[in-house]
Amino acid sequence: MATDKFKIAVLLSGRGSNFEALAKAIETNKLPIEIELVVSDKKDARGLALAKERGFKTALIERKPKERSADEFFKEIGDAVSAAKPDLVVLAGFMRVLNAAFIKRFAGKMINIHPSLLPSFPGLDAQRQAWEAQVRFSGCSVHFVTEEVDAGPIIAQAIVPLFPCDTAEDLQARILIQEHKLLPAVVAALAKKDVWLEEKDGRPLVMFRGKLNDLEKDAGLLSIKPL
Ligand code: GRF
Repeated sequence: MATDKFKIAVLLSGRGSNFEALAKAIETNKLPIEIELVVSDKKDARGLALAKERGFKTALIERKPKERSADEFFKEIGDAVSAAKPDLVVLAGFMRVLNAAFIKRFAGKMINIHPSLLPSFPGLDAQRQAWEAQVRFSGCSVHFVTEEVDAGPIIAQAIVPLFPCDTAEDLQARILIQEHKLLPAVVAALAKKDVWLEEKDGRPLVMFRGKLNDLEKDAGLLSIKPL
């Protein structure tokens, strides 16, 4: 049956709590968004089990280095994702660096959630990096995916404090609470075409309909009033 819903494909490798938050937000708020496919590269990923439980179409595509090259692996994922004809590809804890061909294939329609205030602390263990640096604030970012890891145009961020008595795990938990609000808010905004990517003066620019920061405000993430 034809649907005019905004279609997404989710890629994950593990716990899947961001995928779960997204699925719940879509269901609870009756958002016109359809999760068409959930791809995992790990067979024991909790996120894969959750997706199956919720009745979503899933694909397990493992790397198996002895059997094929990284390029073949990403081609297979790309083909599975393309077959789902998504409007948006969501990286929700997909723990692999994508190859250039995959990034090009979904350029401008692929987002990632990262547990730091980018461009600070890209890469692995971002929460621990922030904790070790003894920053006063950290948070999470949702950005478009480009070739440089965790460096694509930032769509929205949420901020959390870091207290002197915090462990790295405390910080991680505090950030995760915000991740679960930020990712659904961004996907909803993209589905509504309230946010889009444009080329301006030779560089990609994230454009917002309405006021900048409305997105964070709507998600209850920003208490500072714009001037
Ligand atoms: C999250 O912290 C996300 O920001 C990062 O990987 C983690 C995935 O967690 N990219 P989960 O699988 O969504 O629970």
